[in-house]
Amino acid sequence: MLAVIGALEEEVDLIEAAMTVSGRQTHAGIETVRGEFGAVEIVLAQCGVGKVNATICTQMLIDLYRPRALIFSGVAGGLLPNMAIGDVVIASHLIQYDMDLTAFGRRHGEIPGQDSRMIESDPGLVQKAAQAFDAAFPDAASGPNLMLGTVVSGDRFIQDPETLRWLQREFAALATEMEGAAVGYTCGLNAVPFVVIRVLSDTASESASGDFASNLATVCRNSFAILERLIPEVGVGEGDHSGGQADTSNPDYRRAS
Ligand code: ADE
Repeated sequence: MLAVIGALEEEVDLIEAAMTVSGRQTHAGIETVRGEFGAVEIVLAQCGVGKVNATICTQMLIDLYRPRALIFSGVAGGLLPNMAIGDVVIASHLIQYDMDLTAFGRRHGEIPGQDSRMIESDPGLVQKAAQAFDAAFPDAASGPNLMLGTVVSGDRFIQDPETLRWLQREFAALATEMEGAAVGYTCGLNAVPFVVIRVLSDTASESASGDFASNLATVCRNSFAILERLIPEVGVGEGDHSGGQADTSNPDYRRAS
């Protein structure tokens, strides 16, 4: 079983449309859609916006479905000057940029008890995602660009040059979004391999909210083109603990609708 998460309807719609759905359940207010994606058993969830929603959703999926790996796919704001809408960033590392204990001498993003403020995606999944990108966009001259590096997450939509520059310089970040580090942190605590794939809907500039709205549906086609190729690659092999059934006996999640 693989778990796939997006924050918004547009980020999960194409994936659901490509699935043979075998069941739907709501846990902790989040609908999960179970089924086959090609030959691979997956559970798909739309977590909603922000780190809290992302954390709840990730832990719920892990507890109930015991996925062997988790893929987050969605949009982000690009932070480098030459980036274009539709370009793809695969997060090798993520940081919660709004975790701020600088009052105690810590660096922005540092979480007490963690060795580093960097949350690392599974290197094997990062490589597989990059290969899936190459397969989806074989013509480098006409397709989107791919970048691997740090993605920062916080509970704020960024559309000002000052914050953009701070995120670039403080964290050496390529893109900003609102869920990835929370998903990664939760996967890390549960020893579940994960990868975060982001397509740029905007460049976090003054026009970001308008750009986001007008580009969202279109750029999600780029992430879907990657997922279509990545899911079968990640889905092969052994180590499926769940047998595809949700363990809803867990009392914490019995409030299913
Ligand atoms: N997701 C897409 N664009 C974003 C931005 N500019 N800031 C935060 N999250 C985003």
